[in-house]
Amino acid sequence: MPSLGHLEASAPLNLTLSKSAKALVRADWSAYATAYDLLSEHNPEYQTLLREFEGFLETIETPGLIYDIGGGTGNYTEIAARICPESEIKLVEPDVGMLGVAQAKLSGHDNVEYDPRALEDFDASGTADLVICVHALYAMPDQRQRLKDLRRLLRPGGRLYLVDLGRYMNVADWRRYLFAHLKQEHGLFGALRIFWQGREIAKQNATILEAQKKGAYWTHTEAEIASAATEAGFDIIRQDSVYRGYSDLLVCRATS
Ligand SMILES: C[S@@+](CC[C@H](N)C(=O)[O-])C[C@H]1O[C@@H](n2cnc3c(N)ncnc32)[C@H](O)[C@@H]1O
Repeated sequence: MPSLGHLEASAPLNLTLSKSAKALVRADWSAYATAYDLLSEHNPEYQTLLREFEGFLETIETPGLIYDIGGGTGNYTEIAARICPESEIKLVEPDVGMLGVAQAKLSGHDNVEYDPRALEDFDASGTADLVICVHALYAMPDQRQRLKDLRRLLRPGGRLYLVDLGRYMNVADWRRYLFAHLKQEHGLFGALRIFWQGREIAKQNATILEAQKKGAYWTHTEAEIASAATEAGFDIIRQDSVYRGYSDLLVCRATS
């Protein structure tokens, strides 16, 4: 486990920043989309998260209806579609670039439907057995209200599988970590080639950090996200610090 001493503490929101100024600082998910799966392929921490989710799915009763909210390029939906071929799965993703990559990737699965709305505009309620929301909540507006939306999608007793970036995205720290890993796996020139192909990732991660610092994106401690989930109507079954200490994983049950 690497030292977490470099992580900056969760910062208070910048209350002086107007709503419109905050809205200007946002990641360009479409620009991110083309390079996003490089991250999936080459970041061992991302792979660990995917395996963790696959393990979770194997321990629960097959869900009838699953939502993947902010599903991006569809990596979690792909696992759900493979492990639960009988489930009805809806990938909810407002960014056209991300959604396009997901649709191309998942074209072989006939149990997946797509919805291009943001969570705040998605009006389904009360029927899902499982809601997945990975690394998307922090980027949504009014995140505590969005947690209540996630609760609204679930039937009582249904589960939320939530992973959220909570601490400042330290771009230099991630660059060092990934470069060392890639150099070991692919040699110096291989690592440089992958970094060049994935340069959009570094650019968008820098924007994510800026949005976090300006309070447009949510930063939280483990205790803060736990209390927000409880307030939204969830019992927390399990909580872990993941993604090198940058993110929180919560498995929750919707209270009745
Ligand atoms: C870092 S990506 C995560 C994608 C995927 N869940 C994964 O872990 O591979 C964040 C995603 O959240 C989506 N997102 C941002 N705001 C959203 C909102 N208000 N409602 C739903 N999704 C949103 C973005 O479009 C983007 O695809």
